[in-house]
Amino acid sequence: MAVAPLLIGMPEMRQSSLVVVANRLPIDDSQALDGACEWRRSPGGLVSALHPLLRHTPATWVGWAGGTGPAPALPDVDGVRMHTVALTGDDLRDHYEGFANATLWPIYHDAVEQPEHHRRWWDAYQRVNQRFAEATAEVAEAGAVVWVQDYHLQLVPGLLRALRPDLRIGFFLHVPFPPPELFMQLPRRAELLRGMLGADLIGFQRAQAAHNFSQLVTKVLELPATDRRIAVDDRMVRIGAFPVSIDTTEMSALAGRPEVADRARRLRHDLGSPDHAILSVDRMDYTKGIEQRLKAYSELLAHGHVKVRDTVLVQVAVPSRERVGQYQILRDRVEREVGRINGEFGRVGEPAIHYLTQPFDRAELAALYRVADVMAVTPLRDGMNLVAKEYVAARVDDAGALLLSEFAGAAAELPQAYLVNPHDLEGLKQGLLAALRADPADVRARMRAMREHLREHDIRAWARSYLSTLDQSGSLLTRLSNG
Ligand code: ADP
Ligand code: F6P
Repeated sequence: MAVAPLLIGMPEMRQSSLVVVANRLPIDDSQALDGACEWRRSPGGLVSALHPLLRHTPATWVGWAGGTGPAPALPDVDGVRMHTVALTGDDLRDHYEGFANATLWPIYHDAVEQPEHHRRWWDAYQRVNQRFAEATAEVAEAGAVVWVQDYHLQLVPGLLRALRPDLRIGFFLHVPFPPPELFMQLPRRAELLRGMLGADLIGFQRAQAAHNFSQLVTKVLELPATDRRIAVDDRMVRIGAFPVSIDTTEMSALAGRPEVADRARRLRHDLGSPDHAILSVDRMDYTKGIEQRLKAYSELLAHGHVKVRDTVLVQVAVPSRERVGQYQILRDRVEREVGRINGEFGRVGEPAIHYLTQPFDRAELAALYRVADVMAVTPLRDGMNLVAKEYVAARVDDAGALLLSEFAGAAAELPQAYLVNPHDLEGLKQGLLAALRADPADVRARMRAMREHLREHDIRAWARSYLSTLDQSGSLLTRLSNG
């Protein structure tokens, strides 16, 4: 991978006609200082989605580099400029860990954990959003397209429009947008809606989310709104569903490589050559339904429906947001439960669950996907879930059963998966057994249909659909496809 030399001192102020704004940069400062600048693709869906699009596109990415203190000057990565926004320790605690991940995140995910409200967190959210808006205003060329990402930055569209009315501003929410009765709990609900309405186009994962947004705008701001358009002052804001996807071709090509197939064979052997391998790959997040899945598996073991030597579960759960209390509690509970299940059902050299908390490179992930006879993706609520799509793309052999939660955005696009309600323990157990015992011909037919869908609905189709709606001149699209 070509790496530009590390810039020393103050960042050079260069302007771009395409600016992506996201809480995190796709690299972090520790990597940059090592001189090892690669896209930090994982764990997390946002960078996974944007990476294949932006590589080699002349764009600037405005974001946080992961530390606290002064903003480091970072080199370009694959031709994309990295423009760092500095966060202090207080910003990190009150904006990222606080308002973004302990207020908005639980509210947006059905309040499966209790959202917390603190006035100090709101102050930090405003302050950090203002800083992102100012940084973006500096690096955007006249008339540039700016694409703001996700719930950390909902005020940026409005703040940026006030600074730079010449820009074309898009906002995309990667996570669910909740029903009005949940959103209405937010003390600063009007400000959050107004912030988003600074955009020309607001994209959601699902049509239901756009509908929720339009209902809220009508109710809270008393603006005329449909599920497609909202009139704000003298502007028309468009809203709609743009389900995010993956680079299907890239994942299929990777999974089809002989060395990945060899690695998959070796992994299967190392797992004890079981009849059935089940895999789950999640960030350690309470929305992902890890505890419910472990409980279902434990009951299937206890009642003899699955046996340790015949069946193994591989649970990859990379730690996330480790300073947020609810995430610490979850990790402790998951690790205690994995220990209990292995203690009770495992044998020497034959654990019931292979539990891994490491980040893996793409080839290792692809090999894991190829080993999995059943891929269990059972979040309680998820905006999309790219892991489900990656699994399908990796099954170049048309084998493998996808067990998928009805509450993942991906379920709307992949109805051929074995769909389950993860809140229903008996249903989850039955779904897992159905996927394990499915007729191979049925599994293949379902997998083929899902692969067909993803061949067409890949990340480029997502970008085309979103950006052609945002940038009606079409010039941006031409540059992305030439990139
Ligand atoms: P979220 O954005 O909530 O984390 P997604 O399923 O949409 O969930 O995206 C997760 C992304 O992170 C996927 O691209 C997946 O491959 C990647 N990922 C998850 N766990 C790991 C891991 N242990 N190692 C490498 N990549 C991971
Ligand atoms: O999908 C929601 C999201 O916040 C993404 O923005 C991000 O890629 C992922 O979850 C990981 O979150 P964090 O940046 O908090 O590690």
